[in-house]
Amino acid sequence: ESEEHTTFVVLGASGDLAKKKTFPALFSLFCEGRLPRNFTIVGYARTELSFDDFWERLSPGLSKVGAFFCDKGTLSVRLRGMSHICLFPDKFRERCTYFCGQYGSPDDAARLDKLLQDKHEAKFARANRMYYLALPPTQFADAVRAFKPLAWSQKGWNRVIVEKPFGHDLPSSDKLASELMAVLEEKEVGPTQTYRIDHYLGKEMVLNLMALRFGNVAFTPIWSNHYVANVRITFKEDIGTEGRGGYFDKVGIIRDVMQNHLLQMLTLVAMERPASLLDEDIRDEKVKVLKQIAPIKTEHVVLGQYTRSEDGKTPGYKDDPGVPADSQCPTFATLVMFINNERWAGVPFIMKAGKALEERMAEVRIQLKDVPGGLFGELARNEFVIKVQPNEAVYMKIYGKQPGLSNEVEQTELDLSLHDRFDIDRLPDAYERLILDCVNGDKRNFVRTDELREAWRIFTPMLHTIDGLAGGDAMPVTIHTYPFGSRGPPDSDALVQHFGYKRTTGY
Ligand code: BG6
Repeated sequence: ESEEHTTFVVLGASGDLAKKKTFPALFSLFCEGRLPRNFTIVGYARTELSFDDFWERLSPGLSKVGAFFCDKGTLSVRLRGMSHICLFPDKFRERCTYFCGQYGSPDDAARLDKLLQDKHEAKFARANRMYYLALPPTQFADAVRAFKPLAWSQKGWNRVIVEKPFGHDLPSSDKLASELMAVLEEKEVGPTQTYRIDHYLGKEMVLNLMALRFGNVAFTPIWSNHYVANVRITFKEDIGTEGRGGYFDKVGIIRDVMQNHLLQMLTLVAMERPASLLDEDIRDEKVKVLKQIAPIKTEHVVLGQYTRSEDGKTPGYKDDPGVPADSQCPTFATLVMFINNERWAGVPFIMKAGKALEERMAEVRIQLKDVPGGLFGELARNEFVIKVQPNEAVYMKIYGKQPGLSNEVEQTELDLSLHDRFDIDRLPDAYERLILDCVNGDKRNFVRTDELREAWRIFTPMLHTIDGLAGGDAMPVTIHTYPFGSRGPPDSDALVQHFGYKRTTGY
């Protein structure tokens, strides 16, 4: 291990993603002692910046992470015998450097290669390079074409992490995938160079789905259309697009979170048991269940766009600079899909996602069928809930006898809230987990090309109709408005109820 050096090259280093997610994740992994012993981080961007200026830009993102680790009085503090100084930020800083270059320039790639070889890798027998493309996808192909082979390590692995959006529909996604595959290796068996991030796959409770499903025989019999009435996957944010409107308007909520994050959760709920925990066994099962999902029907979709809050204080979507006054972009959607196999035939999988709603929350809610017989009168349904955020938890809504002399039954929860049950100070951010997986060459939580293709196949016809691209007898889809901070358009509740969801009480 000491013979080995690893370089992390973060492209787009002065952008938002790098500042808010990539660097804080690397820093946190460093504080946890999880990064390889010998490593260098290169922030790569087009802007001419001194290292000090670059570091200053990163600092707000790092300080949150740093405050946690420093407050805990950690290793480096004890080493120095001083309780008020934490060396983590300084030690991390020493490992970082800034490189100004164009994306896709062979000269700059060669310059980077020389710097790495001469300055950082020379004394090591092995040298690995991870390229983190925190860039718009239009720049992916040019960037990798320059780095491979000009800045490719000849004595270790080379891996490239890419971030969505991977295209805006099936044809554009296929085009992007083939451009990348023309340069990078992506094999089902053996080493892969492409790591496509969906950060929901790095979230604690999303990772937990497999363990819950396949580690407990208790859930096996109920996990099908025999007992499940419907499955709801919900994503809510209590903030609007806040200055990101120019970008968001070209994307919309369906492409932003449903075609990727929510569909990944659905897949993990619905897939069959993989043959093993190996990357390809898991991804094979995911692709298999995706292939059994029919394209979403336009009549199974309700769209919304938020307007100014009811008290008039919070601006609406169209007030966001960069959003056209006649924008038809959905910031909210509820849609229903079906899986055509023995296990799930007839069970509606309902997805709901929206910005500017009443709370921030993401969860999977599996609602079971009514209790037959009516021994205790009409009871609300059992629900098995996986709360992804906030307050990560798994709970089951069940009935029990009211304690005491009463003979009544009442609804309660079997509740496994992570922060109550386990001694954890902090759960790692999804990006930490995924970067670490990439260092270890573990692909199971990254999205394979065929998986991405199936995801787009399910969503593309409906998206084309909404965008007015479908032609023919395509029905235009109404965009309902909803005030900032509300539950979304009432038509959404109507759709969900139509598909058999019964509201229960409690949380
Ligand atoms: C991103 C979307 O992929 O996920 C954002 O582009 C969204 O619009 C974000 O806010 C949500 O992620 P998280 O981890 O905050 O739930």
